[in-house]
Amino acid sequence: MHTPELGTSLQELETPSLLVDLAAMERNIKTLMGRCVQLGITVRPHVKTCKSPAFARLLIEAGAVGICVAKLSEAEVMLEAGLDDILITTEIVAEPKISRLLSLATRNSKLKIVLDSQLAAAQINEKMAQLPHRLQVLIDLNVGQNRCGVESKEDALSLAQALSRLEHLQLVGIQGYEGHLQMHADEAERRRLCHEAMAKLVGAADYLRQNGFEIQTVTTGGTGTFEYCAENKGVTEVQPGSFLFMDLAYARSGRKNFEQALHVLSTVISKPVAARAVLDAGMKSLSTDSGNACLSAEHAGLTYRPAGDEHGILEAGSGGEVPLAIGDKVLLVPSHIDTTVNLFDNYFCMRDGKLDSIVRISARGKVQ
Ligand SMILES: Cc1ncc(COP(=O)(O)O)c(C=O)c1O
Repeated sequence: MHTPELGTSLQELETPSLLVDLAAMERNIKTLMGRCVQLGITVRPHVKTCKSPAFARLLIEAGAVGICVAKLSEAEVMLEAGLDDILITTEIVAEPKISRLLSLATRNSKLKIVLDSQLAAAQINEKMAQLPHRLQVLIDLNVGQNRCGVESKEDALSLAQALSRLEHLQLVGIQGYEGHLQMHADEAERRRLCHEAMAKLVGAADYLRQNGFEIQTVTTGGTGTFEYCAENKGVTEVQPGSFLFMDLAYARSGRKNFEQALHVLSTVISKPVAARAVLDAGMKSLSTDSGNACLSAEHAGLTYRPAGDEHGILEAGSGGEVPLAIGDKVLLVPSHIDTTVNLFDNYFCMRDGKLDSIVRISARGKVQ
């Protein structure tokens, strides 16, 4: 890999590369943490977005209680780097994952997982007999996303009762992530629907408590909803992730309280005709699951579209001339950061237009 020297200017950096605007990212952290202090809510940021232990550490230093990860392999990377209070927010089932979970939990007594089935609970419990402590578990509740999670408070109670018979697992809380609401464009409606989802989540937590279970943690929320979640008494913790960098999908949904702190830098490698410039960034540099990336404000009159794995095309909206020459560099705003970050090995972290540091995306590709 070509490693640029620190202090290199943006214009001299290798492309395509992933650039973090450190000042903007720091402001995003400050905004989030400040708002959560005001709201009196604990923050456990989701680092499936940044996939970097270095940035996870920054979030802990800024006041986060711990971190969320989506996968065991992300937890392995974070634990290896010294982060210990980790919640894995996706269900873990079957071998070989349960053996890997045992190995992780052996090294970290604060590790927490979510469960939505008695089958997985029984299998995990059997393996955790080898642990010197009980593994902390949260019941995952479907609050409207219709992905994982038990369907109702009654189903949550059945699972809690089953868990109480499993001596190597300890029920500590409940998770209900309202992912379907994060980008709801109508803010008032997003808030109303979020309150509805939180009523279900907090109601289920209360129902479990009424039936004798100690529910310490009620965890939920993302960048689009964390404030509304926190307005609900009974929610103890929020899990936003995208706020760190933001993306076009969030911008399109009208989210304005965080800044765009991540871009892909790309070079014009060809300009066969005046109306078309070709970039060195295609689908392997900018994910397309949430649509195409766009140009940063400086070149807002141009549109970008991928033209294969390695190429992208810039055109002027009017069909007129693209005011760029071969060798020029442009900044692109990813449409979806999580899936774009996962395409790169490193962040080039910029301050005042110069390369300040290179941060490894250690959990890149960690999807197991
Ligand atoms: C369970 C869970 N919590 C929190 C988040 C964070 O959401 P966002 O990146 O929109 O802030 C996600 C993202 O997909 C998630 O799956």
